[in-house]
Amino acid sequence: MGNKLRFAVAGVGGMGRAHIEGIRKNDLAELAAVFDINEEFAKQCAADCGLGKFYTGFDAMLTEEDIDIVIVCTPDQVHREYTVRALRAGKHVLCEKPMAQTVEDCREMIKAADETGKKLMIGQVCRKAPGFLKAKELADSGMIGDLFFVESEYAHDYSRIPGKGGWQWRTDPVLLRHPVIGGGCHAIDLLRWIAGNPSEVFAYANHKMLTSWPVDDCTVAVMKFPRDVIGKVMCSVGCKRTYTMRTCLYGSKGTIICDNTSPEITVMREILDSDGNYLTTDTKMIPVDINNHNVASEIEELIDCVINDRPVPTDGREGASTVAVGAAIVESAATGNPVGIDYTF
Ligand SMILES: NC(=O)c1ccc[n+]([C@@H]2O[C@H](COP(=O)([O-])OP(=O)(O)OC[C@H]3O[C@@H](n4cnc5c(N)ncnc54)[C@H](O)[C@@H]3O)[C@@H](O)[C@H]2O)c1
Repeated sequence: MGNKLRFAVAGVGGMGRAHIEGIRKNDLAELAAVFDINEEFAKQCAADCGLGKFYTGFDAMLTEEDIDIVIVCTPDQVHREYTVRALRAGKHVLCEKPMAQTVEDCREMIKAADETGKKLMIGQVCRKAPGFLKAKELADSGMIGDLFFVESEYAHDYSRIPGKGGWQWRTDPVLLRHPVIGGGCHAIDLLRWIAGNPSEVFAYANHKMLTSWPVDDCTVAVMKFPRDVIGKVMCSVGCKRTYTMRTCLYGSKGTIICDNTSPEITVMREILDSDGNYLTTDTKMIPVDINNHNVASEIEELIDCVINDRPVPTDGREGASTVAVGAAIVESAATGNPVGIDYTF
């Protein structure tokens, strides 16, 4: 028990509960405390987890409890606030995606991590989804040749997932949460992980599905990646379909089609004879697990980074880069101009 890393979870709604499950599954982790602004939620969660105490004050929790790592699962609008406070209190932090709503907030979070030397992980969980891991492994192995086009979509009907915390934070008209930064960040981050940092984006958006919401609900962005790869991200939060992040990677020798909610990925490859003549196009379905909220794997990775003092792969600069692309997409759709992206954080 004594050698375990002690976790606190801030915000015990849907994702907070998922992270608590991830902590429970890890032999090197233990849940030390839970905090939520909603007393009923905090109390119920503490009772469910067998904790004698719950917190509705973040600083009280940080002061009174012996905590190594804080997982921030609050609404996006307050990620910066809790992350910076936890880092400055000497805790490592796993902050849910998106890192923050603005690049300025990300900068403040990076500064706090740099100055304290504490680990900061951003929960870009698509990098832990089995289908996407397999697709990246195959693309990196050269199986589909030289990439020339990559696309990913975040299609998620938000009209069916109102916030559980009383505050409808996904639709707050004042503290706007743009779906491209809040949810589309998954598709953006996935393409960045596979193809690198896009230098420029151009986007169109409309507002036809969730007309009572304060922002556009569908956005399509095209972008220029390194090595002459072009890409596209679609983000719709009013679409009438089940949740998917359909993703296609097109290469000179083949194509990979995958998503986060199917038990297989599709790989198509041209088969040539020994003289290089075209024979056929082979299609293979490769089975994969469905685990699109694999937070257990994030927790495992962060623990390893802390114990072995190694850099976190999805650190603040990675999270901020994804926010920067999202912000550029929103700006492009609003102005009608292409927008370049600055990655100096
Ligand atoms: N990784 C993923 O795939 C994924 C999926 C869903 C949500 N998320 C992210 O996880 C975070 C939480 O989302 P959720 O779906 O669990 O939301 P939720 O509404 O289910 O839970 C949010 C919790 O935060 C609490 N809360 C609200 N304001 C607070 C404040 N100021 N201080 C402390 N607690 C506060 C609420 O009471 C609630 O318990 C968001 O940042 C969201 O973008 C990530």
